[in-house]
Amino acid sequence: MLREPLRFATITAENAKMGCRKILIAQGELMTEAVRVGIVGARFAARFHWEGLNRVHGVPVQVVGVMSKTAEARDAFAQEKKIRAFATFAELCEVVDIVDLCTPPSSHEQLAVQALSMQKHVIIEKPFTGYFGGGAADFRGDTFPKKKMLDEAMKSCERILRAADSSDKKVCYAENWVYAPAIQKEREIVTKSGAQILWMRGDQSHSGSHSPYYGSWKFSGGGSLVGKGCHPLSAALYLKRVEGESRNGVPIRPVTVSARTHEITRLPGYRDEGFLRTSYNDIEDYAQVHVKFSDGTVADIFASELVLGGVQNSLEVVCNNHRTRCNLNPIDALETFNPREDLFQEVYVVEKTGTKQGWSHPAPDESWQHGYPQEFQDFMESLWLNREPLSGIALARDTTAVLYAGYVSAELGGAETEIP
Ligand SMILES: NC(=O)c1ccc[n+]([C@@H]2O[C@H](COP(=O)([O-])OP(=O)(O)OC[C@H]3O[C@@H](n4cnc5c(N)ncnc54)[C@H](O)[C@@H]3O)[C@@H](O)[C@H]2O)c1
Repeated sequence: MLREPLRFATITAENAKMGCRKILIAQGELMTEAVRVGIVGARFAARFHWEGLNRVHGVPVQVVGVMSKTAEARDAFAQEKKIRAFATFAELCEVVDIVDLCTPPSSHEQLAVQALSMQKHVIIEKPFTGYFGGGAADFRGDTFPKKKMLDEAMKSCERILRAADSSDKKVCYAENWVYAPAIQKEREIVTKSGAQILWMRGDQSHSGSHSPYYGSWKFSGGGSLVGKGCHPLSAALYLKRVEGESRNGVPIRPVTVSARTHEITRLPGYRDEGFLRTSYNDIEDYAQVHVKFSDGTVADIFASELVLGGVQNSLEVVCNNHRTRCNLNPIDALETFNPREDLFQEVYVVEKTGTKQGWSHPAPDESWQHGYPQEFQDFMESLWLNREPLSGIALARDTTAVLYAGYVSAELGGAETEIP
């Protein structure tokens, strides 16, 4: 049965006086102390994970420390947040309940399996896992056979699944789009109106990732399709799961995919004006996928690194009884005109905005729009109350399967390809 999501645990004033330990004793088998979290990675994602963890309410959370590959970033992060810096992943695992992986995709499987084998829960950032060349020196993602990639990516998923099964610990898939208020509102509309979703059209695009790891398949596991397309795709897969579960108790899952990918900024004729990132080694910077579900309905997902004017995050849901545009970013809660760029030097406007001059839509709370605090609320509650997170291993596995079957299809010029 579909669980009503985001119904948060609350600690009442009376309970708070009793202290956490007493509340939890009263609740029986649940956790008895604050959830102890260890962050892994110390840059972009680590920062918004830290903020999300600090916004959790009703569940006591303690971020114990941070571990990262580069000592400099790790120590700076630890000092700034007043937490411990750990030299090794194993040492961090020893003292926490859950590790939060904010590291490049190529590291997710190894770190997750190690944590699970040490009886720790794990949060895994998107993309869940994939294929990264297996350490071969001459590996290039753009030319490597995609069927082999798909097979290996699915084996990687299986290894994480098996490690989770044998540990009895939770895997939280950090797909924030599942938690975005716009997507959750549409979930409510779909379930309460008994809608059938006929077609979805999603997009995540901007002017290029900041991460130095992104751009090399051996770290990122792919380009726009995996790095950006995963977001609207996971949201689309989630809504079809919810639709099926609410009507028949069984998720509606993806069965085939047709995809195209292109490397536009690497075209010999590309004229670089300096506005888009171009330092990609062997990944695509444009992708579109057409997904067919088991009930014959469809979704079209676009993702690229080619779009100026700030991040474009949206999912349109076309149903038999309504139609919704889930706008995650930009939204028009604020419309601001700035006559001179430098006036807004200290003002955060919106993710990946190229300029702050002229008209813009500053995000009043971009993290909230993107679902980050809600994501950590759910993850922490899932441990505290011993239940599954809304975004878990099943959705992560299906997303990986669609993405890599998509690469197989793109290699075949867009041929319809079965999703394993
Ligand atoms: N959900 C989102 O909106 C979102 C946004 C950005 C990034 N991400 C995801 O977050 C993850 C991290 O991305 P990022 O942008 O923070 O990258 P980043 O390059 O800014 O930071 C990566 C960090 O991981 C550390 N690291 C690398 N390999 C490691 C290893 N084996 N063990 C421990 N530490 C290691 C690096 O030293 C660095 O501190 C990626 O999976 C990315 O796709 C998600």
